[in-house]
Amino acid sequence: MPDKPDRNAIEVRGVSKIFGTGDSQVAALDDVSVSIRENEFFTLLGPSGCGKTTLLRLIAGFDFPTDGQILLHGDDIALLPPYKRPVNTVFQSYALFPHMTVGQNIAFGLEMLGKPKAEIAARVAAMLKLVKMEALRDRRTSQISGGQQQRVALARALAPQPKVLLLDEPLSALDYKLRKEMQIELKRLQHETGITFIFVTHDQEEALTMSDRIAVMSSGKILQVGSPRDIYDRPAERFVADFIGESNFLEAAVVASANGRATVRLASGTELAAALPEGFQPKDRVTVVVRPEQARLVREGGAASGVLENVVYFGTDTHFHVHLDAGGPFIVRQQNTRSGDAGYAPGDRVGVAIGEDAAQVLKD
Ligand SMILES: Nc1ncnc2c1ncn2[C@@H]1O[C@H](COP(=O)(O)OP(=O)(O)OP(=O)(O)O)[C@@H](O)[C@H]1O
Ligand SMILES: [Mg+2]
Repeated sequence: MPDKPDRNAIEVRGVSKIFGTGDSQVAALDDVSVSIRENEFFTLLGPSGCGKTTLLRLIAGFDFPTDGQILLHGDDIALLPPYKRPVNTVFQSYALFPHMTVGQNIAFGLEMLGKPKAEIAARVAAMLKLVKMEALRDRRTSQISGGQQQRVALARALAPQPKVLLLDEPLSALDYKLRKEMQIELKRLQHETGITFIFVTHDQEEALTMSDRIAVMSSGKILQVGSPRDIYDRPAERFVADFIGESNFLEAAVVASANGRATVRLASGTELAAALPEGFQPKDRVTVVVRPEQARLVREGGAASGVLENVVYFGTDTHFHVHLDAGGPFIVRQQNTRSGDAGYAPGDRVGVAIGEDAAQVLKD
């Protein structure tokens, strides 16, 4: 059957997972629903303990949901054991067999499936080439570097040609430079194999740079799903805005709202156009979020005024910390240019100008 574009690889429907009983119950997942498309680089992003690994384990079949369904290409896979699912996992710890060589590690899954010897040899060679590890085929995995182990773990998971690859924080043990290299490598692998990747990280920059779409999780729930740009520019909830990037939060009164847009009045009295989250009808008072790079310092006027408290130079840009007259902090980030800064100094009275289309209303 030819693959339809944009078909769902995985559908998670109303899935909950409760661990323990009585007083020690933990709702690791609480009514989670999400669809992951074929060939998608999909990322689960959230803080420690929010349920990322639990969701991967349910998809892989290492554990069962307390409630809800998981479909793979439209079929309920609840009763399929892990080894029968066209899903493979790269664990955070790699879990390689240290007494085996690189080649033997990659062959292992294929041997378990009872593949013919010649096919296994060809497949191992292809995988070694893919992860650029041909030269180390006969080296034991206890005698290779962390980044090399990482690539062997990937090759081993890819060897049986899974439809879906689950990657649980696969880069967290690597140093910064290697991590950056592996990020590019992973994108290349996904592109070349066409496999659906479900990638887990708690690193927001990694999520933004690598993913087609991101699901932001908190306390067993998925709060928002969208492209990196959606998630960054149009966070729907305070948690999402706070977790990803830096944010300024302003309390505001709703003056009018229609068709996904609102006019809000800030404490300074200034009225501002702001975007509404999809399908959201605001009440009288809302919180508005503005990213620091979407605001500018001005000597006079602006949407809000205050006193400049701190100027922090970052090389490429400068962060200005303002204490607003209406109370609360506001950070402005401006790119540095050859002509230098405008001479703002701590103690100055300043205005904060907010760019058009920069303000976003939050649901909570
Ligand atoms: N086997 C278990 N028994 C009891 N509680 C568990 C079990 N596994 C996970 N939990 C709990 O479920 C919640 C979610 O855990 P999970 O491992 O999915 O988090 P995570 O998002 O992967 O976190 P991290 O980023 O630290 O890996 C946590 O509160 C955790 O303590
Ligand atoms: Mg985890």
